[in-house]
Amino acid sequence: MNSVFLLRLAFDLTAAALLLFGLSYWWLGNAAHELAGTAMFLLLVVHTVFNRRFYGRIAKTRREARDLFNLAVILALLVAMAMLLVTSVLISNALPDILSSFGGFTVRRIHTLAAYWALVIVAVHLGLRWPLIMGVTRSLLGLSAPNPGRSWALRLAALAIAIHGVWSAFELGLGGKLAMQVSLDWWNFETSVAGFFIHCVAVAGLCMAVTHYALKWLQRRERTARTA
Ligand code: HEM
Repeated sequence: MNSVFLLRLAFDLTAAALLLFGLSYWWLGNAAHELAGTAMFLLLVVHTVFNRRFYGRIAKTRREARDLFNLAVILALLVAMAMLLVTSVLISNALPDILSSFGGFTVRRIHTLAAYWALVIVAVHLGLRWPLIMGVTRSLLGLSAPNPGRSWALRLAALAIAIHGVWSAFELGLGGKLAMQVSLDWWNFETSVAGFFIHCVAVAGLCMAVTHYALKWLQRRERTARTA
């Protein structure tokens, strides 16, 4: 497999991990949070350079479910990441005070809102690339072409993660965070650190699984409609 492509995927994985670290502000503390966020944005610049051809192809995007949905998700990512970046600069403790004088309570709330939406949208973005990620994992592990037994085991694992993800969404109070509700109900990192990350990963797994299987179903419908 092309080593540049593997490096790209390693960068993507690191960016996703840094997003999760960023969410654990009350565990990391401010300095580590700002460093993790800066590193994530630098990786996203690299990600955009690697994927620059996508933007040149937008005008020619086919009117098929996957392509249109993919485009909408990338636009949503652009908005969420831009909100995250602008609010980060405004509330930063490391940057000069002149900027942070614009950052108040509302800006902090918008920052949190954008961060939790980023978790959901990045997971949908990965769900759209699930066959690619599975293919790469299979070849790195030296496994043969897809086999029905393994596929079913993976489907059952995806179902278990999705069910866990529903529970995790309640445990994290995700609905309130995505609706920008004011709450002092933050995760207690003194009780468990791993628990927070497991819940975040399960929510991401839920979004990936729903995206992947919903898209498979839509594409099957499109194919049936075309042959009919
Ligand atoms: C932590 C955040 C992100 C992760 C983990 C991630 C992951 C991925 C992966 C695995 C791919 C396919 C492999 C590759 O090209 O590297 C991809 C493609 C892509 N990503 Fe991201 N991504 C993230 C954020 C973003 C953001 C913020 C944008 C832009 C707003 C973006 C735009 C794109 C585009 C345009 C493609 C190519 C899409 C296509 O050809 O259909 N990604 N991403």
